[in-house]
Amino acid sequence: MNEINLGARKMSYLKEVQTIADLFKELRVLLGEEASYNQVLSSMCTLPPDIAREIASKYAAINLGDPGLFPQTVQLEKEVLNHLSKLVNAPVNWSGTITSGGSESNLIGCWAARNWSRKVKGINNGKIIFPKSAHVSFEKAADILNLNSDWVSLTEDYQVDIEAVKQSIDENTVGIVGIAGTTGIGICDDIKALSDLAIDHELFLHVDAAYGGTIFPYLDKLGYNSPSFGFENEGVMSVSLDTHKILGSLIPGGSIILRSKEIVETISKNISYLSDSSTKQFTITGTRPGTSVVASWVLLQKMGESYILERIRESLEVTQYLVQKLKVTQKIELVFDPTINIVGFTNTKMQNVDLVKELEKKGWHLSIYSNWIRIVVMPHVTKETIDNFIKDLEILLLGD
Ligand SMILES: Cc1ncc(COP(=O)(O)O)c(C=O)c1O
Repeated sequence: MNEINLGARKMSYLKEVQTIADLFKELRVLLGEEASYNQVLSSMCTLPPDIAREIASKYAAINLGDPGLFPQTVQLEKEVLNHLSKLVNAPVNWSGTITSGGSESNLIGCWAARNWSRKVKGINNGKIIFPKSAHVSFEKAADILNLNSDWVSLTEDYQVDIEAVKQSIDENTVGIVGIAGTTGIGICDDIKALSDLAIDHELFLHVDAAYGGTIFPYLDKLGYNSPSFGFENEGVMSVSLDTHKILGSLIPGGSIILRSKEIVETISKNISYLSDSSTKQFTITGTRPGTSVVASWVLLQKMGESYILERIRESLEVTQYLVQKLKVTQKIELVFDPTINIVGFTNTKMQNVDLVKELEKKGWHLSIYSNWIRIVVMPHVTKETIDNFIKDLEILLLGD
């Protein structure tokens, strides 16, 4: 049977294969093990739990870009945002939206910084200050928004240098960005100090917690320090938090929470052609998947805190396991002591880029960040994965 259910109709559709089972066989050949994450040590995304996969197939038709058509999913989006807003101690007048991930959230944060400063301070040719550790999405954002940018240096501890930020502030500065969980090493900037600067100079402070925002709030419950990165710091105006990173929700999934509805007003657009003609949006994307929201709702509201605590606890434990193994591997040097689940190392045998290429030949995916090799220990990385990886690493380093 080569019949496919097209929703409202059924149609004889498959041209070259006989059955749907054959089609999936062909897809398995075409895509291979690509979606297994078996040897993936480079990604901040991870395997979604089975429940999220089921949601992906059941609710694929939901479009949150047209909220009038999907009011119940809109309600779930509100509940997810409400949950996330608590992680960042948002004040009562907060507003936010689910996005496609950290890049979109950061773009929206910079957009709000630019428009808010235009409105409040009349700055038209604005500049924004980024730490050198900031994600490439800020380079894109500055380019798209026609903002000048200054990328300031870091301290020896890889935090943004507060003195350097202070020096960079001038009359055209509209905003500062701080990172809660840097892409390269997972460090949290001194958000309190950035907040004080933002208040003193009346600047918009955006915090990129795309990675750390769903890790740091849970750390104290696991016996580590939770750094302060949210709205308890009065200068913070917006925060990005992703749901498609450690939480394991469906791709694409992120969010931005903003301090007030008045800030959101500076970037909101009316959209009259949708089913509810009073719809307003401040997302960059129009059509947005509901699946990611439904999955986040289940993971956050129904599976709850114990689910996420367990994921973070295990990832930190496997991180320490990896660190111990790397420390006793000859020709390997750790670049920093990990604070969360990101590890950086270098080697004394060959160029790091060549080592990554050699490991790639053995099926391992790692990334180079700055001048070190970066491993992100996400929930799909187990102690067994680490054992297998170290075996291959030793063969490459200890051979001739
Ligand atoms: C700190 C940080 N911000 C933003 C992003 C961008 O996120 P996305 O890939 O979801 O757009 C990343 C991705 O690695 C990140 O590490």
